[in-house]
Amino acid sequence: MIVLGINAYHADSSAAIFKNGILLAASEEERFRRIKHWAGFPSKAIEFCLQEAGISINEVDHIAIGRDPKAKFNKKLLFFISRPIESFVHTIERMMNQQKVSSLEQEFKTHFGIDANLLKNKIHAVEHHRSHLASAFFASPFDNAAIISIDGSGDFSTTMLAIGKGNNIEVIESIDFPHSLGIFYTAFTQLLGFPHYGDEYKVMGLAPYGEPKYVDKLKDVVLLQNDGLFKLNLKYFRSPGKGFVAYNNNNIPAIPIAYSKEAEAIFGTARKKEEPLTQYHKDLAASVQRMAELSIFHLLNYLHKKTRIDNVCIAGGVAQNSVANGKILANTPFKHIYIPSAGHDAGIAMGAAQYIYHHELKQERVPAIFSAYTGSRFTNDYIEEMLQHKNISYKKLDDDVLFDYVADRLINAGVVGWFNGRAEFGPRALGARSILADPSRQDAKELINSKIKRRESFRPFAPSILKEYVNEYFDCTDIAPFMEKVYPIKKEKRNTIPAVTHADGSGRLQTVDALISPRYYALIDAFRKKSGIPILLNTSFNENEPIVNTPEEALDCYLRTSMDMLVMENIIVER
Ligand SMILES: [Fe+2]
Repeated sequence: MIVLGINAYHADSSAAIFKNGILLAASEEERFRRIKHWAGFPSKAIEFCLQEAGISINEVDHIAIGRDPKAKFNKKLLFFISRPIESFVHTIERMMNQQKVSSLEQEFKTHFGIDANLLKNKIHAVEHHRSHLASAFFASPFDNAAIISIDGSGDFSTTMLAIGKGNNIEVIESIDFPHSLGIFYTAFTQLLGFPHYGDEYKVMGLAPYGEPKYVDKLKDVVLLQNDGLFKLNLKYFRSPGKGFVAYNNNNIPAIPIAYSKEAEAIFGTARKKEEPLTQYHKDLAASVQRMAELSIFHLLNYLHKKTRIDNVCIAGGVAQNSVANGKILANTPFKHIYIPSAGHDAGIAMGAAQYIYHHELKQERVPAIFSAYTGSRFTNDYIEEMLQHKNISYKKLDDDVLFDYVADRLINAGVVGWFNGRAEFGPRALGARSILADPSRQDAKELINSKIKRRESFRPFAPSILKEYVNEYFDCTDIAPFMEKVYPIKKEKRNTIPAVTHADGSGRLQTVDALISPRYYALIDAFRKKSGIPILLNTSFNENEPIVNTPEEALDCYLRTSMDMLVMENIIVER
């Protein structure tokens, strides 16, 4: 049975395809369109999925879309009717967006030439948060688990708590828009001078430079309730009736100002983008991060009390808060945790398909997913032909010498573009489309920023570490295959790997498993044999664009930056 899942008309649109429950391919549409967070109909990602499965659209048994405009319809209606003036335009926009969903058959007809009538009974709408829940639980190794989804908002919910048992998900509780931890974090991200969709990670990166001095003030913004849930104090937020995310005609998500005048009166005038970051901003960032953590622990403690299950699965945009994720085991009774590689909205494509296959069609569970490598792939032959065509000189090395050769370049202050195997699904580069450097160099951060990224100096770079050495370097007993958790680096090791040690001594690690990433593992191991350090600095292979997807894009990025070496499979291009 083939199930195609899609996230469409929503940020980070994407597609995923399963055969008898096994994931064959998944990708964000932005990787093909080359526009970050692209939010339209994911025709190119669907085309890619069909190609990987070796089938045409006619052979797909079910199509699951991770949104259901009918969900919480009455609550939605009441909410917007009670705010007639401010929400009128938004309501119209929403209705038009719903229209888009109802013409999904038409969209498939336009892009894939299939008779729309043939699709009518194949298309299933799965509510947004149920899709998030399914993406975490059905990919996890757990038979039983507590599940939570937390984000900005989707289908009028912002938080959903559930129990997963076998192939069933039972929702226990949900919180309605506009009471949203995602909206809280976004409003303060804007107040701190980061206005773009997806900028929240900058606040998380800034937080370790400050002290959480304003948590008490923020407890009047996020009101943690005795019943285990939370509310927002809406006086700090502007026009909740206008909705949260807006999409322009180019399908690029944007967020209207979410904080109110009242918020500026209490927390200071919003920083303009070009204004300097003061200690106050850093302390406020630390406080916002701390408040988000307290709120997440509050929800999780309640979820554990309700379920009495020690396994927890987490998804939703707020699940991208890797700093909070690293603290969950220490601050809640949960003992085991699973977070998918695409915990954000792109993961909706996977989750919607899994929800239909397991929960609706009652199909048996399949092995857990610990690999994010479900995207595009290219052969050495393809890469050679492309380089020859462009008149670029290169050398080809077999694996038995390649890893040593690349490790030598890394040790000699080289910044290396590493394009290897199938692209990652999710926001993190995990050694398939990565830029790598020596983590022991004091100047590695400056090196990468000057040669390639030119990003804010306060943002940290992340370490990929061989799984067997985690306990030597980190205060962590867990695995983090998707860079989904931050843990403290052991005090005595911080000077050994300064380039991946953040201001507070932490690191957002990726634990690299030889069985899951054999070639990336072999490269780090070659570097270890030469340097004594089982770690590489790993940042995404891009420069102010979506992560590179094809060898052509990798080459373009290499040529327009000052990267020292480009490795694509067994092919090496260097300056
Ligand atoms: Fe979401």
